[in-house]
Amino acid sequence: MTPAVSDQDIAAAVVALADGQLVAFPTETVYGLGANARNAAAVARLYAAKGRPPDHPVIVHIASADDLPLWAREVPDAARALAAHFWPGPLTLVLKRASGVRDAITGGQDTVAVRCPAHPVALRLLRAAHAAGIDGIVAPSANRFGRISPTTAAHVREELADAVAMVLDGGACAVGIESTIVDVSGERPRVLRPGMITAEEVADCLGAGLGEATAGAPRVSGALASHYAPLTPLELVDADQCVARVHALLDSGQRVALLASPATLRALGAATDLIAMPAPATPEAYARSLYANLRALDGGACARILVETPPPGAAWRGITDRLRRASAAVPGG
Ligand code: TXA
Ligand code: MG
Repeated sequence: MTPAVSDQDIAAAVVALADGQLVAFPTETVYGLGANARNAAAVARLYAAKGRPPDHPVIVHIASADDLPLWAREVPDAARALAAHFWPGPLTLVLKRASGVRDAITGGQDTVAVRCPAHPVALRLLRAAHAAGIDGIVAPSANRFGRISPTTAAHVREELADAVAMVLDGGACAVGIESTIVDVSGERPRVLRPGMITAEEVADCLGAGLGEATAGAPRVSGALASHYAPLTPLELVDADQCVARVHALLDSGQRVALLASPATLRALGAATDLIAMPAPATPEAYARSLYANLRALDGGACARILVETPPPGAAWRGITDRLRRASAAVPGG
């Protein structure tokens, strides 16, 4: 059951934000660690709490697309169309920043990332903050830098309880992986970070092809090789090699945590020293449970986490992207 967030909770959160403190709140993608985007000391506190390098920019969360001009000096037609179609929702737009937008939140770049999230608690917070004169809340995922993003309030408290004034508990996040990021600051819109809104859906909405993300693209911290990572080494294994790989590890005396299709789990049968979790069949269900599953597998005191590579196809791209980054710390993995 989703716990209720009262109007008093929202009011207290706005007071905390106005005071320069940090408030964790639910969005439909993952929980965010929020700070008043106009308050330099609050933003500094946010970076310190996450352990995030200062040149990694954050996303400004706004109450509605009407507030885009407060943050962007140009709102191109593509941005208007995407905001109208996907907001509130799991899409972030990168735009040329308006004057007065702090270097501290853009990593010193000439662009700013903005999103209007769909979670009802996030929208209540953003609207109440707006009414109190706070016109944007910067909110990176509420995890320590490089670690697994939180999809419940309990995940946030485990990692950042001491750093936040409040954690608003809006239940488990419905989408489960971070927003799709689309850069609309250049000649052609392009996807910088895949998510559950696919590049195809973005292109359909615009009625035009997208540009390629290039090496010269603006910094995206999720683009670091090792990111979203559990502490246990994670290995992505093709479906047809999964059973053999599990047996090889078990035979060498290692405990194994496994996220794989029901077919693979059936082929393996029960084994001591194997913690097995069935992978959901649809991308939506897979994404929703992904980070909680990785946390559970990470807590299994295993030598390895094996994840069966998800199916190919556009709908799975955001998921496969996060799994690749989570596995980047494993040699050859
Ligand atoms: O779903 C989400 O987007 C979640 C929720 C809380 O809204 N937030 C999130 O924030 O994932 P974070 O800080 O973990 O990731 C923000 C991403 C980073 O990859 C960052 O580099 C990118 O946004 N970003 C921010 N400003 C940018 C800019 N001006 N140009 C390019 N990328 C930018
Ligand atoms: Mg993050």
